[in-house]
Amino acid sequence: MCGIVGIIGKENAADILLQGLEKLEYRGYDSAGIYVTNGQGENHLIKSQGRIADLQKKMNGDVNGTIGIGHTRWATHGRPSERNAHPHTSENGRFTLVHNGVIENFEEIKQEFLQDNLMEGETDTEIVVHLIAYFSERTETTKDAFRQALSVIQGSYAFALIDTQEPEVIYVAKNKSPLLIGLGDDFNVICSDAMAMLQETSRFVEIADGELVIVRADAIRIEDQVGNLVFRESYEAQLDLNDIEKGTYPYYMLKEIDEQPSVMRRILAHYTNEAGETSVDPAVIDEAVHCDRIYIVACGTSYHAGWAGKRLLEELAGIPTEVHLSSEFSYNMPLLSEKPLFIFLSQSGETADSRQVLVKINELDLPSLTLTNVPGSTLSREAKHTLLLHAGPEIAVASTKAYTAQIAVLAVLASAIGRAKHEPAAAAFDLSTELSLAAAAMETIVNEKMMIGQLIEAFLADTRNAFYIGRGMDYFVSMEAALKLKEISYIQAEGFAAGELKHGTIALIEEGTPVIGIITDKKTAAHTRGNLKEVESRGAETLRIVSDSLAGKGDQLVIPEVHPLLSALVSVIPTQLIAYFATLHRGYDVDKPRNLAKSVTVE
Ligand code: F6R
Repeated sequence: MCGIVGIIGKENAADILLQGLEKLEYRGYDSAGIYVTNGQGENHLIKSQGRIADLQKKMNGDVNGTIGIGHTRWATHGRPSERNAHPHTSENGRFTLVHNGVIENFEEIKQEFLQDNLMEGETDTEIVVHLIAYFSERTETTKDAFRQALSVIQGSYAFALIDTQEPEVIYVAKNKSPLLIGLGDDFNVICSDAMAMLQETSRFVEIADGELVIVRADAIRIEDQVGNLVFRESYEAQLDLNDIEKGTYPYYMLKEIDEQPSVMRRILAHYTNEAGETSVDPAVIDEAVHCDRIYIVACGTSYHAGWAGKRLLEELAGIPTEVHLSSEFSYNMPLLSEKPLFIFLSQSGETADSRQVLVKINELDLPSLTLTNVPGSTLSREAKHTLLLHAGPEIAVASTKAYTAQIAVLAVLASAIGRAKHEPAAAAFDLSTELSLAAAAMETIVNEKMMIGQLIEAFLADTRNAFYIGRGMDYFVSMEAALKLKEISYIQAEGFAAGELKHGTIALIEEGTPVIGIITDKKTAAHTRGNLKEVESRGAETLRIVSDSLAGKGDQLVIPEVHPLLSALVSVIPTQLIAYFATLHRGYDVDKPRNLAKSVTVE
């Protein structure tokens, strides 16, 4: 989704902005732009639809300046175009602004304040820069004008603003959209994601919603909504530049698929003590032990991980658990139990749909726990408790290691709660052993990736659609497998409960339709095989992913058997590889699927 970078106090501002924007490419965007000034009247505003490389070409190597802001845009209001790309400049050319988020009342603002202004494009952002110019004619300082504008804006935003009459300052403000200040020696940076500026500094300061920050090369001043000075400690970002490089891999997605066994081991190391027992923040366990129902709230892949989590929490911890889509939950809230506990699953910790629910939960003063991969992310800061996924940065848009990390941390949590509640199932579940075995099984499959690539080359070569089917945990994985396939290969894929197919969807099966069955559960194996036979007799081409103890003649992908509660960790790996190779064979960019963004910060 949209990304912001900014720098003040370094000679090669344009290069630094470009490098920063490249680091944000993974989040998804359709246009980009930069504004750079040397503070003495040499100002450059360059925008381009398409890739950062296109922007770089347009810059032609001759953009000089020590101050600048840059932006990658993922279109919300107004189609992707150079005109709609940020930065936007006020009509008098004095103010230039970049924005992440959505201004909800932009039509009202236009009507009330900006009827005489000529808008160049169709974005909600453009009205903000005009509004600041409008207030600047009615207030003493740019800071006052900015603050006035903020007071009438409703919605989510992270802004960075440059005033040509005050080129030694970048003004910054945020509400609900992420933004950080990075501290350097005689320079400072701003960014919507620490990764963007990690090559410049690893020391960052968070900004809270409603604050306004005046960033100079040698100092920053944070003010609250009414102008009081705020002191905030900086922190060292726990990110390694190597973690965000592809190394020898052709795509981040493949690197991240391969990393999954080591992520499992890292999670075990973080959440077990020297005696090998599960060790989770006692405050979290206490909260869970006293709740009567858990509500898992998440989107997309994280939502699918939530279904595996439900099974773990119900079986190991004995707590009834519901799984909800964030975007539905806020507007169709179910009847809540007396003592609910909310678990937010979010790789990025920034997903606006999930945050919207958390805001409501906080208003109701109900307990919440975020499981996220990003320390300090919005959902982490705003929930009562956080457990980290320790998966390392996930750069590919298609989530892989975050999915398995979420399930592993949910297994840790469920086992710890179950033990605290003296649940017999938890006492019998040896988390360390079972998770280690799952990690080894995952490793076996990633080592066979080339075989999977060859197997599916013809199977998915020119199909328009495909189905995954399974029952129980295999159904949960089928939903995730289908999402992975459709989001990057553009094959229309559906994940179905195997028994449900015959109640309507089987009508879509025709000669050659690919149907992939996932079979890891002894109880339901025969039934799923029966459903595969049903589709075969209607012309479907089938492929079976089967645990070794259940495998039979002709099963194409036999995977190691693990504890049934952890089967999703293993059976999902071939489906990730299937999506990866199908995309490669079709010639699409695996890491940057069309229309998608990594961290979805709009509702
Ligand atoms: C799909 C994918 C998305 C995310 C969803 C939620 O591969 O990555 O479906 O899972 O946008 O994102 P987070 O987990 O960051 O809240």
